[in-house]
Amino acid sequence: HATTTLGIVGGGTVGGGIVSILTSNAPLFTTMTGKDLLITRLAVRDTSKSRDFITPEGCKVTDDFNDVINDPSVDTIVEVMGGTTLAKDCVFRALKNGKNVVTANKALIAAYLPEIESLVKSVNEDRNEGTKPVEFRYEAAVCGGIPIISSMQGDYVGDEVEMISGIINGCTNYMLTSMDRDGLSYDESLQGASDLGYAEADPTLDVGGFDARSKLKILMRLAFGVDVPEDEISCKGITDLTKEDFEYASMLGGTIKLLGVAKKLSSTEVAAFVSPAYVANDDVLASISGATNAVEVLSSNLQATTYSGQGAGRYPTANSCVNDIIKVCRGDVNPLPFNSKQEGVEFVNDFKSKF
Ligand code: NAP
Ligand code: HSE
Repeated sequence: HATTTLGIVGGGTVGGGIVSILTSNAPLFTTMTGKDLLITRLAVRDTSKSRDFITPEGCKVTDDFNDVINDPSVDTIVEVMGGTTLAKDCVFRALKNGKNVVTANKALIAAYLPEIESLVKSVNEDRNEGTKPVEFRYEAAVCGGIPIISSMQGDYVGDEVEMISGIINGCTNYMLTSMDRDGLSYDESLQGASDLGYAEADPTLDVGGFDARSKLKILMRLAFGVDVPEDEISCKGITDLTKEDFEYASMLGGTIKLLGVAKKLSSTEVAAFVSPAYVANDDVLASISGATNAVEVLSSNLQATTYSGQGAGRYPTANSCVNDIIKVCRGDVNPLPFNSKQEGVEFVNDFKSKF
């Protein structure tokens, strides 16, 4: 068989899941792609740390990701270390080196997606005719295991999205569920979410609403073609919520959820926010518990569709990365960046008077 050689940067919650899924299904992946998938390089911060997954035979472990992205025998890089500084360097240089990149890094995508798309385009234009184009995929970056990126890039190309709303952070939804249903304190519920691998390395990103805002920004680009400065999206997290807030919500027959919402106000304007919001018990979002995410998409043709599933955690997230890796191995074409039917739509952040 031909081979695809993978270099994985990051061996934590997601990286460990990717290694485990790939190594335990190796013959199946060979059948699906016609290639043997070899993990030949793994970069971690601390090579002496014990791991909760088995490092594949022959895989060289390093604490310098440059060893991975500069290895000419590696054709695909999987970036799952997180952050926007070293990870940016890693992803940009890997693409410049002509390597395919799969990432789960929503902070990076939210900050640099248009630049990454331009880089992929220019790298591919400079490649010799007949050479396989470089691919860039990031399904795991939004809502972990839910295939919302490929839905946005594929199922809505002839449609017009009017609104995207829902629960797009698993850590905080797990926390809100534990506080509301199990009566846990804020600190206990955050500890539980971290223990289960749902929280970001810096959990402020989760509880402050910033992780949800990054995902909303990415979805807005895909659905509406707008590149919104992230800090212009109104963002309120869950840090000020108390037990009493849940009691008041319950008195009214509902609960509280951290929602991300982007809504078209007219044919040319889209507004967005991230905030805790009251949700009535008969709303589908009220029953979304734990690290489950749910995204409601309202569009002209398809109308209301809800996508729900595990939005965080090792295997759901790794599953999305593995699907991207398989697509890269098969040489599926890079999807369109966004739906050009929405051309001319602009972000407005003075929506409160109109919403
Ligand atoms: P994690 O458990 O903290 O793992 C990060 C890994 O990166 C660790 O193995 C760490 O090494 C390694 N690393 C950190 N800095 C490094 C460096 N400078 N050079 C080489 N390796 C380095 O994080 P995670 O939860 O897997 O998340 C990874 C990415 O996936 C993030 O972008 C996150 O936003 C995204 N994501 C996570 C989830 C989830 O549910 N966890 C879901 C969707 C997307 P050590 O182990 O030696 O410290
Ligand atoms: N911390 C993120 C969350 C990971 O809880 O949703 C998945 O993106």
